[in-house]
Amino acid sequence: MDTLLHLTGVSKRYPGVTALDNVDFTLRSGEVHALLGVNGAGKSTLVKIICGAEPPDSGTMKFKNETIQVNDTADAMRHGIVVVYQERTLIPHFTVAENILLGMEPTNGQLIRRRELNQQAEQLLKRLGVDLDLNTEILDLGAGQQQLVDIVRALRTEPRVMVLDEPTAALSQGETKHLFELLKQFKSQGIGIIFVSHRLDEVFEISDSLTILRDGRVVSSGPISEYTPARVTQEIVGRNVAKLETDYKTASGPVLLETQELASEAFTGVNLKIAGGEVVGLAGVVGAGRTELLETLVGFRRALGGKIMLEGKQVQIKSPAHAIRHGIVLVPDKRIEKGLLNRMNVLENLTVSSLKRYSNGLGWLQQKKLSDVAVKTVDQLRIASPSLTTPVQSLSGGNKQKVVFGKWLAWSEDVKDLIFMFDEPTEGVDVGARADMWVIIRNLAAQGAAVLVTSSDLDELMEISDRLYVMRRGRIVSEGARQNYTHDSMLQLMMGV
Ligand SMILES: Nc1ncnc2c1ncn2[C@@H]1O[C@H](COP(=O)(O)OP(=O)(O)OP(=O)(O)O)[C@@H](O)[C@H]1O
Ligand SMILES: [Mg+2]
Repeated sequence: MDTLLHLTGVSKRYPGVTALDNVDFTLRSGEVHALLGVNGAGKSTLVKIICGAEPPDSGTMKFKNETIQVNDTADAMRHGIVVVYQERTLIPHFTVAENILLGMEPTNGQLIRRRELNQQAEQLLKRLGVDLDLNTEILDLGAGQQQLVDIVRALRTEPRVMVLDEPTAALSQGETKHLFELLKQFKSQGIGIIFVSHRLDEVFEISDSLTILRDGRVVSSGPISEYTPARVTQEIVGRNVAKLETDYKTASGPVLLETQELASEAFTGVNLKIAGGEVVGLAGVVGAGRTELLETLVGFRRALGGKIMLEGKQVQIKSPAHAIRHGIVLVPDKRIEKGLLNRMNVLENLTVSSLKRYSNGLGWLQQKKLSDVAVKTVDQLRIASPSLTTPVQSLSGGNKQKVVFGKWLAWSEDVKDLIFMFDEPTEGVDVGARADMWVIIRNLAAQGAAVLVTSSDLDELMEISDRLYVMRRGRIVSEGARQNYTHDSMLQLMMGV
């Protein structure tokens, strides 16, 4: 296979961090090359340099043996290099068609030719076999569909190098399968693909070769046939991964949360019980109503019928603040949008939910205690940040996810009888941190909290839950102890086949 891209000696420093340190990287024509590493290892930085979004401090890049300079993304595009970034770049109030052709709209002088715009976008969707309505505004689409729009946009030109930074983090299993079909088609056309992902099963399914970064350095690189998942995990993390004790004791605590015939626009007839000491998993495909259910339980959405009971007493939960007073919190999905205080630093983000606990009633905060709490969380979750006062804005994607996860860990000294809900807790976090988070979630239950977790990652649910509920099209269709299910039986229940 011919070499398409060849990088030598690429380095990049940010204040307080060496994001890339003398990196060599080769991409061949017709291959999928996985780029792996823990959160903060430097993957997105390398992606940005290849695509001209960030300049390297040093190093060279060759395209087919010719040294090239990419000063911006337009330059990169001229060389046939396109990218789908980790964080969405779509304009919410624009339609699908407008977003796909943004900056390349057919015009007659000043005005956009709307008919042509729609035709071009439609042709593109057809060629790629992607089913999306051209006139829908982006903000009316689910996360998976938004991701597809971003991918289609990258393909509006004829790329020779395609870079996908965690493209599957927001995709359902069906959407991922479709994406992989597309990638195979591109491979056969000789396109080189760089694929960044934390999901090792996908990496082994689609990749031909891989490169592993640790602390900005290449620690391993070669054809995928030379690796096993265990070896890859070991080389990514560079230490032994936390081991989860899966022989859980069955919960003995009182029922803390119960719903009776709970209904909203997205679900109906939901009867759910969670006791202190247990982790309950909620499975379902995207759109089954899982997120809406959790958001209703914390008062972020209105219930239209049914009851919510806390320790046997019926309550009306009017708002998330009200839920917190009742001892229920939700660590949301799409956390970077929903949970991160973007303009604040790591310390402030990690301690907002425990300010009450550390104020003396006169409004004075015990600063030392707050920073102790933050230091502990940073250690526990291995958050890669130069300091506590670093703005969260500049953290890597996965480290932002960890910060929002960590925000609630210091909420209360005694978690007994509190209710924790996690929506996609390990989305975008690396294999090592994923195991750490599982241990933390199990520990909450071990200390007497009730935990409800929902995840698109079935293995995760099977791994951490004592008991499972399966939701399909807004209804609970099955409930039982984890041992009563297999991966396949769960999938069948989720899909309704
Ligand atoms: N604009 C920036 N300003 C300051 N530091 C940055 C900036 N962008 C990245 N960094 C730092 O560079 C390092 C590498 O970040 P990068 O985003 O490349 O990680 P990553 O491997 O993509 O991680 P993830 O899996 O979490 O997406 C991190 O320590 C990050 O905090
Ligand atoms: Mg990244």
